[in-house]
Amino acid sequence: MRIQNLQSFYLLFLLVFFFSFNSATSESHLQLRRGDSLSVEGDQDFLTSPDNSFTCGFLNLENSNAYWFAIWFTNSKEKTVVWTANRDRPVNGHGSKVHFRGDGTMILTDVDDTVVWQTNTTTTDVAIAKVLNSGNLVLENPQGDNLWQSFDFPTDTLLPLQTLTKNKRLTSALRKGSYGSGYFNLNFGSDNVLRLISDTPDTSSNYWPNPDFNVYINGRTNYNSSRVAFLDDMGRFLSSDQLQINASDMGYGIKRRMTIDYDGNLRIYSLINSTGLWEITWQALGQSCSVRGVCGRNAVCVYAPDPRCACPPGFEVTDPSDWNAGCKATFNETLLRSRQVKFVEIPHVDFYGFDLNTTSPLTLEACREMCASDFRCLAFSYRILGQGVCFVKSALLNGYETPDFPASIYIKVPNSLQPPNPSILYESRRMCGSAEAEQIIGSPSMYDFVPKRVKWIYIYSFCAALGAIEITIIILGWWFLFRKHGIPASVEAGYRMISSNFKRYTYAELKKATNNFKNELGRGGSGTVYMGVLSDGREVAVKKLGDVFQAQDEYSAEISTIGKINHMNLVRIWGFCSERKHRLLVYEYIDNLSLDKHLFDSNFLTWKQRFAVAIGTAKGLAYLHHECLEWVIHCDVKPENILLDGEFQPKIADFGLAKLSQRGGPGSEFTRIRGTKGYMAPEWALNHPITAKVDVYGYGVVILEMVRGIRLSNWEVADEYENEAALKSFVRTVKKKIERGSSVWVESFVDPRLKGKFYRKQAETLVQIGLSCVEEDRNKRPTMASVVQTLLECEDDAEVQISDNL
Ligand SMILES: *[C@@H]1O[C@H](CO)[C@@H](O)[C@H](O)[C@H]1NC(C)=O
Ligand SMILES: *[C@@H]1O[C@H](CO)[C@@H](O)[C@H](O)[C@H]1NC(C)=O
Ligand SMILES: *[C@@H]1O[C@H](CO)[C@@H](O)[C@H](O)[C@H]1NC(C)=O
Ligand SMILES: *[C@@H]1O[C@H](CO)[C@@H](O)[C@H](O)[C@H]1NC(C)=O
Ligand SMILES: *[C@@H]1O[C@H](CO)[C@@H](O)[C@H](O)[C@H]1NC(C)=O
Ligand SMILES: *[C@@H]1O[C@H](CO)[C@@H](O)[C@H](O)[C@H]1NC(C)=O
Repeated sequence: MRIQNLQSFYLLFLLVFFFSFNSATSESHLQLRRGDSLSVEGDQDFLTSPDNSFTCGFLNLENSNAYWFAIWFTNSKEKTVVWTANRDRPVNGHGSKVHFRGDGTMILTDVDDTVVWQTNTTTTDVAIAKVLNSGNLVLENPQGDNLWQSFDFPTDTLLPLQTLTKNKRLTSALRKGSYGSGYFNLNFGSDNVLRLISDTPDTSSNYWPNPDFNVYINGRTNYNSSRVAFLDDMGRFLSSDQLQINASDMGYGIKRRMTIDYDGNLRIYSLINSTGLWEITWQALGQSCSVRGVCGRNAVCVYAPDPRCACPPGFEVTDPSDWNAGCKATFNETLLRSRQVKFVEIPHVDFYGFDLNTTSPLTLEACREMCASDFRCLAFSYRILGQGVCFVKSALLNGYETPDFPASIYIKVPNSLQPPNPSILYESRRMCGSAEAEQIIGSPSMYDFVPKRVKWIYIYSFCAALGAIEITIIILGWWFLFRKHGIPASVEAGYRMISSNFKRYTYAELKKATNNFKNELGRGGSGTVYMGVLSDGREVAVKKLGDVFQAQDEYSAEISTIGKINHMNLVRIWGFCSERKHRLLVYEYIDNLSLDKHLFDSNFLTWKQRFAVAIGTAKGLAYLHHECLEWVIHCDVKPENILLDGEFQPKIADFGLAKLSQRGGPGSEFTRIRGTKGYMAPEWALNHPITAKVDVYGYGVVILEMVRGIRLSNWEVADEYENEAALKSFVRTVKKKIERGSSVWVESFVDPRLKGKFYRKQAETLVQIGLSCVEEDRNKRPTMASVVQTLLECEDDAEVQISDNL
């Protein structure tokens, strides 16, 4: 016993010595032997991994006496904890200790000697405890067998090579700066699929992968029951349900972690050596409001434009430091049981789940009556999906806003509730760039404040006059009382995410890389593209932007938005240059030419390749429109902007340029790059507001051309009348054939060069999607998300057909 104490004293001495001289060359890693202990009081009482990247010991929250036995990254600027033994049972800052007992158990005791945590290694032959370079605390026997490891008991973080298996889960922290368990989990479901699940005191629901789609559409499988997932040391996350994720800075030598943050989002972080700060290199949800339950009861997650929690009219925040506590009513809730109620409409907002009754078809009037007459009903959601659908809600949970959600929630409030003073909240929300595009084109802004106010007052008095039940039409956002505390800082960090490969280049660097702009690859409305090789050997395409983009202060802000966009069907942007009058973009180099070269030339794609290009392109556009951090309209979808990689996977180029050029002010040269004749939706000419549906139109033309194998847009022909003719006559002929009900109509429209080698079902689907995409009325065009869904369903069909059709 005495010898062991001496030993530990000696180790402690070494440790103190090591720290006081701050020697970086320590080879002696520390280990604990039976009988040793670590004390909460000893400032130097730590275990470190041999390479000093992880430290294990006691840690407290700032200004508190609550301590945890934890492992953290040694070199990050702020202590980043990857594991705690006593997550929900902190110990006292005096007298607590971790003791490696003579019987082989490691125990953590509080000041009163109660055992707070212990390992299950009693009566084994464990001899030492040490922290490995991977961040794993292990107990080993003299033969080096691992008998216990912290990797088996993850908290909120998964380190490279730590496996997440059947019965393990990652659980988020409760709030920022807390180590306690929160409400969001990552684990395998009983159907073998890895999911993010929200388990709040009020509700439990899964939110990733998208619960509206089935397993296969989400790119997962449920047939592999091994249920194992891990992050490898290159930054790839692989799971037995076929999920594969690549960190944006994929490669060796970078310290990473995968953490489920307290806001419910799952992220991969990389440590930046030079600053000790973390960068997000992947995250599960681009839109933080997609996390179910992030804002608590009665609260709504809104974009303003950063995600925040907000209380609806008649409600106020319960606990400003904790949004999980949600909002509470400012009125006496028993008033809702009477029929003296009215409804407040909040557009584009929904409370997920808790439907007392879903009825369709139903009129808005009847839906309101159903809610008013049922005392359990607190709100109803009403949307038109072909016909009116009425959702009657018994609880206001999982509130979130989706700017393009075509429905409103109507919240029940007492008749006597006075409207609060309206406050101006929605400055310029950047949704999709569409609001901005509208302004530029000169239509009235969606968020124009004054006229709506007049309308509201009018309607309000009208309704008040009507008496009993009123529907107050309230304009988007009026009633949201934003609170500064809002959503978690890590969400904001998500908005600042810049992948580490995205950097600012000097003009000299790019001049050198392109050999003084010698090798021109192409020329377009927005600029000229040159081939280049960076000093690290990467092949790049450098685009010199035209004058439209010059002299704009916001250039770098916009560019970093675009730099964050990362999807396998979009060309990656590695960086940019903004120096004096020069504006350049640095893209990944795609070597297999653009789609037009593979479609209209003598060498042409097979059917399988065409279908894959159609799906990939749709996925890329859907990502731009619906998923990325700030939604983007491409504005120039055409075969020339769809590049194909070595495997003929499409990658969309030139997205985000419309966004960059919008800053020029009203009536600026937006028109110059606003699209390409033949692929341009009619609303361009009609001066209607530009929405994501212009891309849907362009996409429609492209897929019809892919089926047909010839240009339908005929944009090379100068005469405008001709242009329209090719597409229009095609559309007319197809529609006629379909109407006639011929069962083999599609054969005559498919590229004859394929010699009949195509899947009829897929061809029919493509033509039908194409036709709906080029509808004159943009409201009749589908969204890119629904196009993806339709195509994916049809992709499955093809696999069945493969054997008998080709
Ligand atoms: C301790 O628990 C871990 C994880 O539950 C298990 O793998 C290990 O076999 C256990 N060890 C002993 C000695 O029971
Ligand atoms: C199931 O997943 C594991 C881990 O990814 C893999 O090793 C195994 O081969 C898979 N099994 C089948 C039947 O695909
Ligand atoms: C991840 O990278 C690998 C190459 O290492 C590639 O095969 C795979 O398609 C990538 N996955 C995604 C989702 O980008
Ligand atoms: C960061 O530091 C580690 C260890 O000091 C080193 O191996 C790695 O190459 C460095 N990474 C970068 C990107 O500089
Ligand atoms: C709410 O109103 C009911 C009936 O009018 C009353 O009995 C109750 O005390 C009120 N509750 C509060 C908290 O004011
Ligand atoms: C929903 O309401 C309709 C009309 O009141 C009623 O016929 C139906 O049974 C209700 N459904 C449920 C599940 O309560």
